[in-house]
Amino acid sequence: MSNDIFGSVDNFIDRLFAQEDDALVSAKKAIIDNGLPQISISQNQGKFLHILARLRNPSKILEIGTLGGYSTIWLGRALNAGGKLISLEIDQHHADVAKENIAKAGLAESVAVRIGNALEELPKIKSENAGPFDVIFIDADKEPYAEYFKWALQLSKPGTLIIVDNVVREAKILDEHTDDKDVKGVQKFIKLLSETTSVTATIIQTVGSKYHDGIALVIVN
Ligand code: SAH
Ligand code: DHB
Ligand code: MG
Repeated sequence: MSNDIFGSVDNFIDRLFAQEDDALVSAKKAIIDNGLPQISISQNQGKFLHILARLRNPSKILEIGTLGGYSTIWLGRALNAGGKLISLEIDQHHADVAKENIAKAGLAESVAVRIGNALEELPKIKSENAGPFDVIFIDADKEPYAEYFKWALQLSKPGTLIIVDNVVREAKILDEHTDDKDVKGVQKFIKLLSETTSVTATIIQTVGSKYHDGIALVIVN
């Protein structure tokens, strides 16, 4: 089946259930206008993440990989009153665009974008006792996904929901002989996840306006 069909159905769902308000429309426009890669989660994936996060009634959310803050806004809107979201971003330009988008969405008080390599920021977040987090969204560079997941576990408590984007990659993860570093990183993460007995997890495939991919859903036992 063509991506056209999946895209059309996604548009239909978006119109009914995942409408963007002015802040989300303007965030998407700022991402394009400022030349950021257009790899944000899709509209309906944003709504999906928002619903999942809301189920946890979160006071603390951690995001790894901010880009222009599009997913940050969907997740930030799931915070309970007084809740805080920390989002990690290595690229100063991405972070600048994100901060403006987040401010326009009225989330400047509740969302902090931290600039730096997530692999350096995560130990600091641990030592600052900023956790444990109710929801953690992993969506940065794919090579260290297993490392991000180990840190996510360190920053979790029983019931923490860990969501991991881009874990199917058009089925490339099935290729055991791939030399694609990103795919290898995802494969390593999936193996680790499948062997981690302290969590309950699965992967759900996604189609729609983005290409065929998948999201791992993990609950800490
Ligand atoms: N979550 C965003 C998309 C994130 S794209 C959304 O759906 O709206 C991945 C982001 O991770 C990019 O902005 C990239 O600069 C950032 N990134 C890449 N390597 C990183 C690292 N080591 N630490 C922190 N961020 C990183
Ligand atoms: C890429 C990264 C993402 O987080 C995503 O959702 C889609 C694509 C990428 O690096 O190509
Ligand atoms: Mg992604």
